[in-house]
Amino acid sequence: MTTDRIKEAVRAYYAQIAQERTSCCTSSCGCAAGYAEEVLASVPVEAQMGLGCGNPFALGALPRGATVLDLGSGAGMDCLIAAQHVGPEGRVIGVDLTPEMVALAQENARKVGLHNVTFVQGDIEALPLPECSVDVVLSNCVINLVPDKARAFAEAFRVLRPGGWLLVADLVRQGALPAYWEDDPEAYARCLAGTIPEADYLAAIEMAGLVIEAVTRAAVEGPIVSLQVRARRPL
Ligand SMILES: C[S@@+](CC[C@H](N)C(=O)[O-])C[C@H]1O[C@@H](n2cnc3c(N)ncnc32)[C@H](O)[C@@H]1O
Repeated sequence: MTTDRIKEAVRAYYAQIAQERTSCCTSSCGCAAGYAEEVLASVPVEAQMGLGCGNPFALGALPRGATVLDLGSGAGMDCLIAAQHVGPEGRVIGVDLTPEMVALAQENARKVGLHNVTFVQGDIEALPLPECSVDVVLSNCVINLVPDKARAFAEAFRVLRPGGWLLVADLVRQGALPAYWEDDPEAYARCLAGTIPEADYLAAIEMAGLVIEAVTRAAVEGPIVSLQVRARRPL
């Protein structure tokens, strides 16, 4: 399948979820797995769509006053949580490919009266941000959807300030995937067919110049594994 076809399928799939306000909550999603009840209670239910596959905040506390970028911000849940970590003197930017998701995230931020959270439509393979402009890059269940993962990690490296963190939760695979997924656009959009082996995923992070500091994993289903990685751009 061409990269354009994959991106179009991904955009259409998440546009429908945003418009219908449906949660994906399939076997491939974590349905807000790993978040404390009080954290979930602090964000609007409309932002909790069960689209993540882990909890990137479990990898490290975000510093107050930090500028945070969320790659593939969806309905905005992790951005709204990040805003609580960084406080009013910090700033949070969510980038998402799907305009309908960006609109939903903006609506969710308005509901909680946050003015230091911005959502922009964009492709994480070509981030609309200057180099060395953010302290922390977050991402939750997104890079598996991106055809050129090396480019996405290179972009994360580019926008991070030296010493800044990448905190990522994502799905990878251990072993082979069913062959019929390869031609199934929905299998890509559902965070399945675009998964790559864990070793290749970690190598792509390192190839971008980031230094891996911590890795945790949990089985999801069959060959699909939920991975959480903390990596740092060296000083
Ligand atoms: C599984 S959802 C995860 C959303 C959010 N991170 C969360 O945890 O709730 C994947 C999101 O990534 C976005 N996405 C997919 N490919 C992208 C790309 N190349 N650039 C930016 N966003 C992308 C989709 O539009 C969708 O909102």
